[in-house]
Amino acid sequence: MLFKLTDEQLMIQNMVREFSRKVIAATASERDKTKEFPAENFRQMGELGLMGMMIPEIYGGEEADAVSYVLALSEIAYSCASTSVVMSVQNSIVCESLYKFGTEEQKLKFLVPLASGEIIGAFALTEPDAGSDPVSQATTAVREGDSYVINGTKRFITSGKNGSVVLVTAKTNESVGHRGISCFIVPKGTPGLVVGHMEDKMGLRASDTTDVIFENCRVPIANILGKEGDGFKIAMSGLDSGRIGIAAQSLGVAQAAFDAAVKYAQKRKQFGSVISKHQAIRFQIADMATQIEAARQLIFSAASMKDRGEPYTKEASIAKLFASEMVNKVTARAIQIHGGYGFTKDYNVERYYRDARVFTIYEGTSEIQRMVISNHILRDKRKP
Ligand code: CAA
Repeated sequence: MLFKLTDEQLMIQNMVREFSRKVIAATASERDKTKEFPAENFRQMGELGLMGMMIPEIYGGEEADAVSYVLALSEIAYSCASTSVVMSVQNSIVCESLYKFGTEEQKLKFLVPLASGEIIGAFALTEPDAGSDPVSQATTAVREGDSYVINGTKRFITSGKNGSVVLVTAKTNESVGHRGISCFIVPKGTPGLVVGHMEDKMGLRASDTTDVIFENCRVPIANILGKEGDGFKIAMSGLDSGRIGIAAQSLGVAQAAFDAAVKYAQKRKQFGSVISKHQAIRFQIADMATQIEAARQLIFSAASMKDRGEPYTKEASIAKLFASEMVNKVTARAIQIHGGYGFTKDYNVERYYRDARVFTIYEGTSEIQRMVISNHILRDKRKP
């Protein structure tokens, strides 16, 4: 491995690996069928400091660096991608946004229970008609005295049902494009916040993805995150960190699929020998290992830049683009190596393949990552 981990990073990786393979893996296949949200696992993950890893201890977090975070997240994804997406959204776009943009009062009230894992949070940006283009969102927030009144529908919201707090973006000024979008903290139980349709998904089945509907939902002005007009910036900077997280999830699932394929190839016999002796299989294994290692280095590199306080938007997108495309190839090959058995639910590779499919889509499609990367290289802000 090119990248040298510190003793502390290795300790975190080993601790999470042990926990993940013992506790999380035990019920992952079952939860893929039942779609049961692993609330008890999240409670334990909170105790281990995995729900607000990069947040300072005074706000309930673990004060870990971003490299430790990606190590931990990929270890969780190795066992269960559904669990890892909840952990990812919680750590990055929810906790980090509150830490970076929240007032002291907001941090004490909302960040502390989130970062310590007492409660789960959601970030609501996407809408039925605004996915890749969040500036075209239709949700509005109108100031009335000491409150904002929010109206609109958000779609595909991770932890929309199980989250206790929702950070939601809404337009406070229609006429100024992205500068007219603001972000609000809305606790569940606020009148007018309704959890809508829950998606029946191809993968990540144990994580809830729902509509979140705001019907004259009134929040005090104290619940605005940052200033009026900061909402788009909050979402974009949260997504920078989130995208390293999706890359780390991709790495974890790819490693799991790879390990399963190697194990299977070493025991499955055809033509008088184990199939790992056939060059066709050996070369596939070599290609998978190369792709995984390349993704790992890109993820470590982006996370290290974040740790050094350098701008890392482009590198996060590169890591996300490469790792999410990589895991789709690796999981497909893992099924190929398993032959007919890989197509059945008796082997985990079938679940890995389905879970991986969304990684090139959420937190910015591969096409969006290419826009971000090329815009940074060419410094060309022209819209498509
Ligand atoms: N950090 C902070 N600010 C940023 C930023 C960043 N990374 N990127 C852009 N901005 C700011 C810019 O500085 C600029 O602000 P000013 O004009 O005030 O200087 C403003 O945002 C607009 O920037 P651009 O002109 O570069 O942005 P754009 O409009 O050309 O492109 C985009 C934006 C990259 C296409 C963006 O819309 C995007 O990322 N779209 C995809 C959205 C997405 O990823 N959605 C996923 C939803 S979340 C999800 O999937 C949730 C889940 O639950 C798993």
